[in-house]
Amino acid sequence: MSNKTISGFSKLPKPDKVKWVAEQFFQNPAEATQELMRWWNPDEEQQRLLDGFSENTLSNFPMPFGIAPNFMINGKVYAVPMVIEESSVVAAASSAAKYWLDRGGFHAKVLGTKKLGQVHFSWNGDVRKLESVFEELKTELLQDAAPITANMEKRGGGVTGIELLDFTVQEPRYYQLKVSFETCDSMGANFINSVLECFAKTLDRFIATHPVFDDGERDVSIIMSILSNYTPECLVRAWVECPVDKLGPFNNGLSAAELAEKFRKAVRIAYLDPHRATTHNKGIFNGVDAVVLATANDFRAVEAGCHTYAARDGHYRSLSHCTIENGIFRFWLDLPLALGTVGGLTKLHPIAKLSLEMLGNPSAEELMMIIASTGLAQNFAAVRSLVTTGIQAGHMKMHLANILNHLGANAAEAAEAMQYFEGKAVSFTAVREYLEGVRG
Ligand code: MEV
Repeated sequence: MSNKTISGFSKLPKPDKVKWVAEQFFQNPAEATQELMRWWNPDEEQQRLLDGFSENTLSNFPMPFGIAPNFMINGKVYAVPMVIEESSVVAAASSAAKYWLDRGGFHAKVLGTKKLGQVHFSWNGDVRKLESVFEELKTELLQDAAPITANMEKRGGGVTGIELLDFTVQEPRYYQLKVSFETCDSMGANFINSVLECFAKTLDRFIATHPVFDDGERDVSIIMSILSNYTPECLVRAWVECPVDKLGPFNNGLSAAELAEKFRKAVRIAYLDPHRATTHNKGIFNGVDAVVLATANDFRAVEAGCHTYAARDGHYRSLSHCTIENGIFRFWLDLPLALGTVGGLTKLHPIAKLSLEMLGNPSAEELMMIIASTGLAQNFAAVRSLVTTGIQAGHMKMHLANILNHLGANAAEAAEAMQYFEGKAVSFTAVREYLEGVRG
């Protein structure tokens, strides 16, 4: 077997992990070791905390942490923290926030906070019998889970509904307990999964012992118990609106009415065409994910749930919509966002804790509104660029700045290069050659 495999890696002390990886996978192990160790936090306690979030850690992976200021949402002004590695995103969010600041700001409303989980099981019985004793089963499920739900109930949450679903037409013997939850300010993944696993045991015991199944309908097998990341009723709406004539003026000669109509059409195209919808929605997630990350929420859960929502009628569509009616331009989106502002890493991650403090320690509902508004702002900025100057003008400036940085240009060289490349194609080679030229 290749010496690139190992057993017991997770048990090695961190310096030995680094050493092994450096020796096995790098041409210059000393350099790799040095680079990996360069990003260790000198504060050992902080480093231990970070290492505790994951496994087999070698180093930390730095990402830029910035803010988009001037976000007015429901009349309150926020500086929105964003963690993102893509240039132009924070600039675009900031520009859209400022733009709408003068036009009434963002509006947002939480339409629901219902979370969901499922116990999937296989069973040989007559579903009518299970239905006939379902209230009894529910009582037992809730009783058994009471030690887990007690605290959440004190906070105003808990289990809010239990349904039995019959899928036997699609798959022999397959049933599901579909459970609804209110998890207040926590995302609730651990809570939901613990309750579901407890429900699964109760269900198993109930079918094994209840006299109604004495005819031998006791062959039950729990397949799995897990939350669903699709939460269409944990939903937030964000919108902006203003009279069309207040949209302008635009520096590329478009009138406000022309801009509004081009914009509306661009959003409509994303509704109709999944290729465009994917890119359009990616623009929304540039904003959403950056804040989800900055507040140590689960961006994979958010993405998975929102993409399912985007395809809820069987066709993948834009998450945002635009109308022009009676002279009013309106742009909005609905997103299913399962977020937490307590629990998980929200208060453990030192920077996430700062992010939440910067936002005024919001409730989960307030954070839903902030994140949906940031996604809408990002989408607005992207589509506005696309239908006016095109996206490359802004992107290329940042791209050029990154290349200059990479090539070690000083401030004077960078300023001159910015001027030189105005209106010219930017590529790594072109910038390197230009720099070599000016440096002689
Ligand atoms: C780039 O990260 C995002 C955009 O492609 C989004 C869009 O096309 O709407 C600009």
